[in-house]
Amino acid sequence: MDWHPPSSQDETRFDPAEVFAAGLRQHHIANTAYPIHHVTTMRPYRIPRTEVQSIAPQAWEGLDGIGLYVHIPFCETRCGFCEYTVIDPAVREETEGPYFDLLMEEFALWRRAIGPRRLTGFDIGGGTPPLAPLPQIARLMETVHRNFTLPSEVEVSIETTPKIAALAPGKLRAYYRMGIRRISMGVQTVSPRLLEAVGRRATRLDWDRRAAENIRAAGFRKFNVDLMYGFAGQSLKGVEATLRHALALQPEHITLYRMRYKGTRLASQAGRVTREEVNRQKELLRSLLLEAGYRAPVGKNTYTRLLDDSGASDYLTNRVVYGTPYLGLGLGAQSLSEHTLAYNAGAADKRLRNYQRKISAGQLPIQDLYHLSPQAAMGKFISVSFYFGGIHRASFRRKFGLTLEEAFPAEVDFVLREGLMESTPDSLRLTPHGDKYYNGVIALFYAGAVKGALLEGNGGRVTVERRPLTVDG
Ligand SMILES: C[S@@+](CC[C@H](N)C(=O)[O-])C[C@H]1O[C@@H](n2cnc3c(N)ncnc32)[C@H](O)[C@@H]1O
Ligand code: SF4
Repeated sequence: MDWHPPSSQDETRFDPAEVFAAGLRQHHIANTAYPIHHVTTMRPYRIPRTEVQSIAPQAWEGLDGIGLYVHIPFCETRCGFCEYTVIDPAVREETEGPYFDLLMEEFALWRRAIGPRRLTGFDIGGGTPPLAPLPQIARLMETVHRNFTLPSEVEVSIETTPKIAALAPGKLRAYYRMGIRRISMGVQTVSPRLLEAVGRRATRLDWDRRAAENIRAAGFRKFNVDLMYGFAGQSLKGVEATLRHALALQPEHITLYRMRYKGTRLASQAGRVTREEVNRQKELLRSLLLEAGYRAPVGKNTYTRLLDDSGASDYLTNRVVYGTPYLGLGLGAQSLSEHTLAYNAGAADKRLRNYQRKISAGQLPIQDLYHLSPQAAMGKFISVSFYFGGIHRASFRRKFGLTLEEAFPAEVDFVLREGLMESTPDSLRLTPHGDKYYNGVIALFYAGAVKGALLEGNGGRVTVERRPLTVDG
């Protein structure tokens, strides 16, 4: 498979200063979650429904060394801030068994379509995978081993909530025995008022400590804690208390997520959070983390206290640094090959119906499939690169046959001239100054159609503030 020819919108060149300003104005949506509103911005690349089943497998021909993500869409309750595909908790119990059966069938469908592949990373995400009965996770691991080559050095990672990790130590021990080696726990915030406001009432802070003890006792040596900032009304004092609480758990890694409002139940609150506030929170978190001995290059959201570890899972690290293609299985999961982007059924309505219908008909459960132009694929690769604060030069060149300077001459010139990024032999990286203007910088590398949507103030359904551009620092 080769590239789709670029749409005229994607070939449009914009003034970098205008795109930068639009990214800052729309800072709630100019981030690593790319593309923005794919149904409109990627329309020229959409594969007709009648061809999806034949084209999707072609996209994987010749690819080996891929990532695997498996989505488990179950939670006890749905947190107000959550942007992920989670099935209504009220129907969890009756849905869980059928869901795992469908998931196993999806593995079989992919195996028939593309044959076995070697994995370079594997994440079990959600949702809250440990809510699932243990035999289902055991079955999942066994199915992965049967259908893919999973080398022993690949660190398999799983997500958990503190509650389940505190109350089900036996499951953690079993995961370790199954070969899962990294565990990521969402603490998010310790502010009682905020927890109440985001509908995470069922959280008790002593669960975090018990969860950490159970994780260690199970054998895990790679323990990550997720924290969130950028909530409306979140104070610096609250941010500091949250970080100190996380440090006391002594995880190897701490990942900071800035709240993304789009598509969440808190979407209407986005306009109450300014970029300056978010930057102050991010700077405070960074200084406290560095003081505590954690490290991350400027702009990276995962901090680690290990010397030879990126902090992120192998699956994510390979995606971010090398642009490694990944298959996403499960409800609403996303897959990216070198030339296509696909979304499984269920991402929008968070219901099993369409996913089930397709699998029962013996079809890959893909809802939207896009055959990408180089511009669309560059936008995707570079946006994800910003998880680590910079773009890996050799990966970009290998994927697109061009240097960053050749593909984005005006944009690279702009970021260097303005001191927003710096050039190293390996990468083009955010500077401390550029990190404050991250949302403007990332938008510079979007495909033309997505830049156009941002400039029209049309990138998504969130309330965004409309203020003049202020360049501080
Ligand atoms: C898929 S969730 C799984 C974690 C686990 N279910 C929990 O809540 O403890 C992974 C992480 O994404 C982050 N997250 C969830 N919703 C988000 C949003 N709207 N914006 C930014 N980060 C978000 C949270 O930090 C969360 O821990
Ligand atoms: S944040 Fe975690 S626990 Fe809350 S709804 Fe999302 S996936 Fe579930």
